[in-house]
Amino acid sequence: MSILKVAKLGNPILLKKATEVEDFSSDSLKKTIYDMSETMLDYGGIGLAAPQVHISKRIIIIRNPEVDEDSNVEITPVINPKFTPLTDETEDSWEGCLSIPGMQGLVKRFKNIKYDGYDLEGKKIQNEVSGLYARVIQHEIDHLEGILYTARLAHKDAFGFEKEILDFWKKNIVSKVNE
Ligand code: NI
Repeated sequence: MSILKVAKLGNPILLKKATEVEDFSSDSLKKTIYDMSETMLDYGGIGLAAPQVHISKRIIIIRNPEVDEDSNVEITPVINPKFTPLTDETEDSWEGCLSIPGMQGLVKRFKNIKYDGYDLEGKKIQNEVSGLYARVIQHEIDHLEGILYTARLAHKDAFGFEKEILDFWKKNIVSKVNE
């Protein structure tokens, strides 16, 4: 396994629509997913999309945010993923991205979704998730469409360096955003 180089904001690969995976039998698909997992853990992320490591294919991985102990990491790869909102309910919350290091933005996402796709063996997978898990899936699927969270800010000013966001926004999100 190897740690891959992560493409940063400004790199055109992040704005490109990724293509579907068709060959599930190739060793390179497995290697890509193992390398993506190692890369995500090394960078401390909870999700990663293949275009972020310069592979323009529809592959995402998600680390289960509900299992947060380092000894018990649960990573789910989803190939050719799609999601559908289960309700109209949305939620604004702060997001970061390994391709936009050190920064955060407030983003509106669907709260409850179902997603489907394929696992490493090409078996269909389907799941219903909510909250942070649902947010990560939506963020990663956006990467496959060439969309970064900065294009989805809940408020045009709700974006900045982590420390400033912590000092000036997180203490009183609602009043600031409604201004
Ligand atoms: Ni991202």
